[in-house]
Amino acid sequence: MILGPRSDNSEELSLPREITSKARQQQHTPGNMGANLSYEANDLSGKNVIVTGGNAGIGLVTARELAKLGASVTIACRDPTRAQNAVEELSKVGANVQTLPLDLASFESVQTFAKSYGEKHDALHILVLNAGIMALPERKTTKDGLEMQMGTNHFGHFLLTGLLMDRLKAAQGARVVTVASSAHQMASLDLDDLQSEKNYSKWKAYGNSKLANVLFAKELQKRSDANGWKIDAFSVHPGVIGTDLWNHNSGVQGAFLRFGRKFMRDTEEGAKTSLYCAVDRDAEKNKGGYFSDCAPKSGTSATRDDELAAGLWEKSEDICKVKYDA
Ligand SMILES: NC(=O)c1ccc[n+]([C@@H]2O[C@H](COP(=O)([O-])OP(=O)(O)OC[C@H]3O[C@@H](n4cnc5c(N)ncnc54)[C@H](OP(=O)(O)O)[C@@H]3O)[C@@H](O)[C@H]2O)c1
Repeated sequence: MILGPRSDNSEELSLPREITSKARQQQHTPGNMGANLSYEANDLSGKNVIVTGGNAGIGLVTARELAKLGASVTIACRDPTRAQNAVEELSKVGANVQTLPLDLASFESVQTFAKSYGEKHDALHILVLNAGIMALPERKTTKDGLEMQMGTNHFGHFLLTGLLMDRLKAAQGARVVTVASSAHQMASLDLDDLQSEKNYSKWKAYGNSKLANVLFAKELQKRSDANGWKIDAFSVHPGVIGTDLWNHNSGVQGAFLRFGRKFMRDTEEGAKTSLYCAVDRDAEKNKGGYFSDCAPKSGTSATRDDELAAGLWEKSEDICKVKYDA
């Protein structure tokens, strides 16, 4: 699809060589991954981008950087005031950013968002499924009765992507980047208990939702290749980043994690692998894969489980009442 100075003029995404090579040089340097990357030579003019949860944390930096490359960026956010504040902040750097309301914990809200977006845009070139919640101490449910972490992090994004499929296909080379986590290592995904009804553990439920993110990208790629959708899908671990995500934890563990935020990487670092997967031509070599530090990584054996990925997809289509190939 998109970007960058290329000799063959083909319609493909690419960050300039200086970005990709520097990212690779620095990818094994914890806390300093690609610290001085430059985006100046890229051009996303005329391209449409959605970043979910683009009002804060990693999503805010992702939205800003893609907008600085010339894209028209829509930040999809649940809180109108926080969303508007982010648009104002991003406008200061001359960014072309709008906001539309999206609460991933409500299928009705996702449907309204997709309809409004579709009315305004013919094509969607980059979809960054970034929004997320982590480790809710008590089991809560979405408006549709789904366990809140799985419902927000996976099912809300699954429905959103499904409803935007015609716009993604229209881009003829779109990218879908799902912000997962190395926390997928804590997962033990039971397709018969996706809502953690039998036994709720806050970290296991988070891990399950993040494994679902990785499996989603893998299966989306498989189906895109089989059906000619021309969509490249990626999942990402952004690193351990000091954001509000850590604030859900209470008690001693919560106090420890909030204190620990000071020592985590910042959001500029946290956005880099999402940006790499959103625009770098080299990322295509490992499309469908799981990335960290701007490089493909192998996740747990569950991330390579074809049967689990297909089973989760079918269950997700049933639960979300959406068909990707309709
Ligand atoms: N930080 C890390 O160390 C880390 C590590 C691995 C993976 N991740 C992943 O990175 C992604 C971004 O997290 P972050 O660290 O940047 O956290 P963050 O600063 O808390 O940002 C999360 C974003 O998601 C939004 N969000 C939450 N629930 C939503 C809902 N129901 N509907 C719409 N938006 C919703 C939040 O909106 P509000 O502002 O309204 O709350 C916020 O914009 C998440 O998927 C997370 O799992 C983060």
